[in-house]
Amino acid sequence: MKHTPPGRHRTVEEFRAHLRAVDSALDCDLALEGRRGPLGWPVEFRGRRIKNRFCVHPMEGWDGERSGLPSDLTFRRWRNFGRSGAKLIWGGEAFAVQADGRANARQLFLNPEVDVATGLARLYHELRDAHRGTGGNPDDLYVGLQLTHSGRFARPDGEAKPKIAYHHPVLDAKFGVDPELPVLTDGELERIGENYVEAADVARRIGFDFVDVKCCHGYLMHELLGARAREGKYGGPFENRTRFFRDVVEAIRAACPGLEIGVRVSIADVFPHAPGEDGVGAPLDWREHVPYDHGFGVDRDDPRRFDFEEPMRFLALVRDLGIGLVNVSLGSPYYCPHLQRPAAYPPSDGYLPPQDPLIEVAQHLHAVRRCKREFPELLFVGTGYSYLQEWLPHVAQHELRAGHVDFVGLGRMILAYPEFPRDALRRGGELNRKRICRTFSDCTTGPRNGMVSGCYPLDPRYKRRPEAERLRKLKGKKA
Ligand SMILES: Cc1cc2nc3c(=O)[nH]c(=O)nc-3n(C[C@H](O)[C@H](O)[C@H](O)COP(=O)(O)O)c2cc1C
Ligand code: SF4
Repeated sequence: MKHTPPGRHRTVEEFRAHLRAVDSALDCDLALEGRRGPLGWPVEFRGRRIKNRFCVHPMEGWDGERSGLPSDLTFRRWRNFGRSGAKLIWGGEAFAVQADGRANARQLFLNPEVDVATGLARLYHELRDAHRGTGGNPDDLYVGLQLTHSGRFARPDGEAKPKIAYHHPVLDAKFGVDPELPVLTDGELERIGENYVEAADVARRIGFDFVDVKCCHGYLMHELLGARAREGKYGGPFENRTRFFRDVVEAIRAACPGLEIGVRVSIADVFPHAPGEDGVGAPLDWREHVPYDHGFGVDRDDPRRFDFEEPMRFLALVRDLGIGLVNVSLGSPYYCPHLQRPAAYPPSDGYLPPQDPLIEVAQHLHAVRRCKREFPELLFVGTGYSYLQEWLPHVAQHELRAGHVDFVGLGRMILAYPEFPRDALRRGGELNRKRICRTFSDCTTGPRNGMVSGCYPLDPRYKRRPEAERLRKLKGKKA
């Protein structure tokens, strides 16, 4: 079925009618107020000022050196993050705490054989310098580093080398995990935990304001949150499934005084999807797996739906651990990409949208609204806005003014149009429509096929690369 992408609407009123038809609880502002309005309201956080409400989500480019150090493309992406004008930089990109935790052979990682700290420090300083170079004051910029272990989705040398917390009947089959593969032992988890602390300490010494203990998108810490089927002290009841997260947070706190901790979490999830015969995404044979005892934030009786009971307990834990910053995501790009990154055009390993992608954007908006309503004392970053295209600032301004969210996180929009926040913050908020991300998904299709990630359709630097032609051919073949 064809859906009308937001960019097809010529006026904000037309878009608003579409949005409200999708969900009558949603709305957007008709006029933009620039930096004087909610988008430019500063936030005070633990003695620091974060001067506007735009956040750059973490986005890796599959473009580091094999040694785990950044490449020219990595530096350029981080400079773009600095130039964007956004004041909260959530993590830059996923940084693996050890070699076998990489999601690809070109992910940055804590490699004891090389001078990782110098590479990360250069990323950090180039980002701040780029911010200064566009008239921004780096003192009110808040920058974190996202720490990860890719767990089930580890591909440290390009081949799948999963490190699983437990055997998941659907994901094991979907991704070809050997049923005999041993699960990570408690001792192995604890050694991974030590590497989180070491990586956090590297970030602290460089001057990063915080580290994100990443719990999203199907990677190790997210998988553990749903590890009911795991035995021992890290599996089973909620207290056990959150133990590894808790221990890592407490160990970082003890070893890294002054370093704040944030958490990016897939706050809810759905049953894994796959393309049907018509190429449209649908949940795999979910009825065969009810009651569904896997996943985090999934309804066990109808796993096509969210269940927020445990996620709210998780947020209470986050608060009690003294964490103040939460970045709310949903699902995983591997098994429900339509939810994790709503798009008009699927990536090569994806499927056609099962419904109007605006419905998934609405799910993101509602998820973060709920978190904020129940935990007003925490600062929340929302996700899933890029699909809104030219009307993103209109929705963002509305959500911020109503207090539904504290920061508007931008992912793909920043790859396509790094200056988007700066332009949206100008009076009138006029955008360059030619540079707006149209959710073509090339930045996901590229890495799924062994290429570096970037905005091939719109970023001149990527347009000129030989991979751009390979991608065009790949898409042509699919069509
Ligand atoms: C190329 C690419 C790389 C990404 N890398 C990461 C990452 O390293 N860590 C992470 O938490 N999310 C990552 N994401 C997810 C984004 O942060 C974001 O959640 C997603 O793109 C949805 O937001 P958007 O609609 O603004 O794009 C990545 C997304 C893309 C497209
Ligand atoms: S390739 Fe560019 S236009 Fe396409 S989804 Fe990625 S950032 Fe957006």
